[in-house]
Order: sequence, then C-alpha cells, then structure tokens
Amino acid sequence: MIVEETNDLLRSKLRGIKFSPLNPPKGDFNTLPFAFLAPLRGDGGLPHRERESQIQLRSKHRGIQGQKFQERQEHSFSMNSETLHHIQTWFTRYVNGFPEDTLSFESMINIKVVHSRIVEEICRSLAEELGWSREDIVTASALGLLHDAGRFSQFTEYGTFSDADSVDHGRRGYEVVKESGILSRCSETVQNKILEGILFHNLRTIPPGVLPDSLPFVKLIRDGDKLDIYRIIRERIENNQLGDHLKEALFIRAEGPANPLAIGEIWNRETVSNENLFSMADFTLMQMSWVFDINYPPTLRRIRESGILNILACALPDEKEAKEAADFILKQAG
Ligand SMILES: [Fe+2]
Repeated sequence: MIVEETNDLLRSKLRGIKFSPLNPPKGDFNTLPFAFLAPLRGDGGLPHRERESQIQLRSKHRGIQGQKFQERQEHSFSMNSETLHHIQTWFTRYVNGFPEDTLSFESMINIKVVHSRIVEEICRSLAEELGWSREDIVTASALGLLHDAGRFSQFTEYGTFSDADSVDHGRRGYEVVKESGILSRCSETVQNKILEGILFHNLRTIPPGVLPDSLPFVKLIRDGDKLDIYRIIRERIENNQLGDHLKEALFIRAEGPANPLAIGEIWNRETVSNENLFSMADFTLMQMSWVFDINYPPTLRRIRESGILNILACALPDEKEAKEAADFILKQAG
C-alpha cells in the first residue's frame, strides 16, 4: 500500500502535477559533473563578462525555450533506432541554439555536448554487456544523450554548473525534455525510464520510490555518467590542469589537508558529500569514493581497467589519513 502510494506520488510528479519551483524534489544534489570547471562567484559566475552580454544571453535563451520541437504526432509506442535518431536530431538542434561560451580554458557548452554523446555510447555499451533487450539498449542510449539536457540552459542562465548556486540540473533537464515533446512517440513506460533517469542521475543517492521499470535505468545513467567524468578528470590530471580549475571554480585550497569528515564518510563506505569538500585532497578522495556508488559489475571492471583510481591515489598529498582512506577504497574496489 505504501509502495503504491509512493509510486502514485512519483507518477504525479512525472506528470508535472506536484512539480514546481516551490515544491522541488528533495535530495542532496551532486554537483559532480564538471561543477569544478565553472566559476562560482556571487555575480552569477561570469566575472569577465559585462552585464550587458549576460542580458543578451538570457534573452537568447528565452527564445530557445520558446522554440518547442515540432514533433510529428506519430504514436508508434516503440523505442527503436528510428526514434533514437529523431531524439539525436532534436538534441543537436537544441544544443546548437545555445551560444558558445568560452571561459579561460574551453567552451563549457561544448564540453557538455561531447560528454552527452560519450555517455550515450557508454550507456549503450553497458546495456549491451548487461544483456538488455534491443528496446532497452536504445532507451539507455537515449537516456545517456539526454541526461544532462538541463546543463545548457543552466550554464547560459547562471554561468555555472554548480547546482547549489543555480538550479538542480537533473530537474531542469527533466523539464526541458518533457516540455520538448520529443518523447511523445514513446510508451509511458519508456518515457518514465528516461525522465526518471534524468531527474535522479545527479542526486547523491537514489531516492526511494523510483518506478520499478525505471530503476535499472537510473542505476545505469549514474554509472555511465561517472565513467565519463573519470575520463575528464584523467585528462585534467594528465594536463596538470585540475588544481588550477578547482581553485578557479570552487575556491578550493589545493594545498589544504583532507577533511576528517570526508575521510569518515569513506570509512563508512559512503561517497564524500559536497559540503565536506574543502581541499584538493577532499576532491580527489570524493572522486575515488564513487566506487561505493557503482551499480553494475561491468562499470566497476571498466573503472579498474582504466587505472583511474591509482591515478587519483597518486595525486593525493603525502598525508597519512588521506593515504589510508585511499588504500581502503582501492581494496574495496578490488
Ligand atoms: Fe549531470
């Protein structure tokens, strides 16, 4: 009975009935995906930009929001390669509507476009490896592509990828995709798989009450997202850019010691919370602690094979408590 009531509540939320800025979904928002790459300043995170250009960007965004994708009213109720192609076409058109935005190192919008397409491929390959049905594989691909749909308007409006300083980008993405009508040719079950995947991909933990059919997809997108963020982190470390970006983006003191609270979360086999991030060591330990939130064996295998955990461990300062926590994670990961 309780489960049914919870599911009814979720379905109502998915229909947009209980979903409003005054009634946001509760959760500990995860600012992980690229949050460290964007500035978080009181002026909206665009310190180098004139106010006039901010207004121009916002006006342009309003125009984009008004352009609803012209969906043909076909209801085949299937998720196949043709439907996926339709979604890919919409995605390209949608993201091309946003202005290129170059900060000190590269375009934030372009980073998200590339990330979305790589996560699409990761989700497809994970679903194949897991032996999912053809329709579920295509659905997983679509979810991978769309999971960060909220990032583009988030950055254009607020100049940051920090959810804490702007909007919950999972919820924003849910709204963007739902309002676009791009999923209208899919069955309600498939729509829920994608919409719940987007809505819950960035929460610290999966909330109770996710629809049973959607749960494997929520787990999959959380895994796929992390795999590609590890790729980004690795590139930043190899290019010796990570510290500079963290200082610029989150005002993290690169030289600070590891936070005992962050280390405590690791000993509890939990992912490190955003509120416990103060130093580069905390950030590095947080990235390593994601192994406590991996859902599928193929994901963990890929993480092990990539060697990213050892790369992160080597990036830690020579500090006994941090090193011990890292060793614990490495042992847990196998
Ligand atoms: Fe995300």
